[in-house]
Amino acid sequence: MAISRTASSRTRTGTTSGWYPVARSDEVGTTPRSVGAAGQAYVVVRLRPGAEVTALSARCPHRLVPLATATVVDCRLQCPYHGWQFNAEGRCVEIPSLGADGAPPPRADVSAPWAVEERDGWVWLAPDRTPAARPPRTGATTPVPEPVPALPGPRGPVFGNLDPALEHAWHPIALAGELLEGGYAQVRLLGRTWTVHRRDGALVAERPAWGVAERHGVIWLAPAEPQHDLLDVPETTDPRFTTAWLLPARSISPAGPLADNFLDVAHFPFVHAATIGAADEQEVPPYDVTAEPGGFTSVQEQWFDNPADPGVARGERPLRQRRRATYVHRAPFQLVLRLEELDTGAVKTLLFLLQPEDGDSTRIYTCLLLRGVDGAAVIPKDVVAAEVAFEEAVLAEDLAQQAVMDSAGLPLLLRDELHVRADRLGVALRRTLADFAADCAAADQAAALQQRATA
Ligand code: FES
Ligand SMILES: [Fe+2]
Repeated sequence: MAISRTASSRTRTGTTSGWYPVARSDEVGTTPRSVGAAGQAYVVVRLRPGAEVTALSARCPHRLVPLATATVVDCRLQCPYHGWQFNAEGRCVEIPSLGADGAPPPRADVSAPWAVEERDGWVWLAPDRTPAARPPRTGATTPVPEPVPALPGPRGPVFGNLDPALEHAWHPIALAGELLEGGYAQVRLLGRTWTVHRRDGALVAERPAWGVAERHGVIWLAPAEPQHDLLDVPETTDPRFTTAWLLPARSISPAGPLADNFLDVAHFPFVHAATIGAADEQEVPPYDVTAEPGGFTSVQEQWFDNPADPGVARGERPLRQRRRATYVHRAPFQLVLRLEELDTGAVKTLLFLLQPEDGDSTRIYTCLLLRGVDGAAVIPKDVVAAEVAFEEAVLAEDLAQQAVMDSAGLPLLLRDELHVRADRLGVALRRTLADFAADCAAADQAAALQQRATA
């Protein structure tokens, strides 16, 4: 039996015209399938059982999530991260964080090939306009789809775990309790192995480092002079707060997208439907972000249901209560979320610290700092254990989403993604890390010049 790979030809402009067989018709259902045509990555899917095949570019334009992980909802393709929905033409018809009246901007659309058609039991794509109106008849030949190409990455720079700027920062490398007196810890940081000893109360790194320190219950290491000091977190030394660490976790995702995820609330209804994501709370109201040296802060007042408040059961307070959420970021990967219940006086602060181990490995430290209702200092052990278990479940949901992102780092060129109102914190993160990288590069260049001048 004869075999044909494509029915195509290269044009003078470098685009590829022609029809490409991408899958057998019976292999394409309502679960998106990754395919390749003319070296470009697409997904093919039926938006309802038995419907014609839809073909779209392989990544969501928002945070570049592979659309092979999307699902069909209401005859549209829905991205799993923030629930954006695309119709058969690739038009973005729904951005939940914009609310019921929000209109998706045209740039939110996904590109689609010029044509997709089924013929003789095969699905064919024409990426670009092609003279042949229809794919060829298969006849006695069996088409051979081309291998699925790597998904296209961002065009501009990305901030990955091995970015040279990260030499100039404090990084968490272990919980203080993981490094006992007389012992040592061997850790990965920025693609290298470091051994740190605790001897006679002092911390010593075997490989030369600018500094090793202990703060907030964490061991920190700065390979070179850091651009910024460690973040001040008053709760870590406030005796009214109960401290509880989650077990350190590890992600194959770089630290940048993990930090972005921590600052993002629009994904809650989609990624955290089983924990914190209320299905009816999809809209993200406008909020402000205030730039600070080396980072930023955002204070947002929110309404939320507080069934755990004993005052609700006693009829002293309503179920619907006010909360102040304060996000703080310091470059590169120190993050705090402080949740203050304005009606009960309870506070939950999350400290989220990231250790960029290797290009594809990040260790995650999460600390809960808790103050009870009416400012109670001591939180019962079972309540703390339940809070930790809950946060671990939330983190597991985040890490499952991050694992499918196929990301080398956080894109720093804003045009490489599409940002909407809910993404102001994410935009601030990208700007902060771009500034951080530029400042570190300038400092390195100045140091090199000075070294040359004195040599
Ligand atoms: S909706 Fe696709 S990444 Fe946000
Ligand atoms: Fe999350």
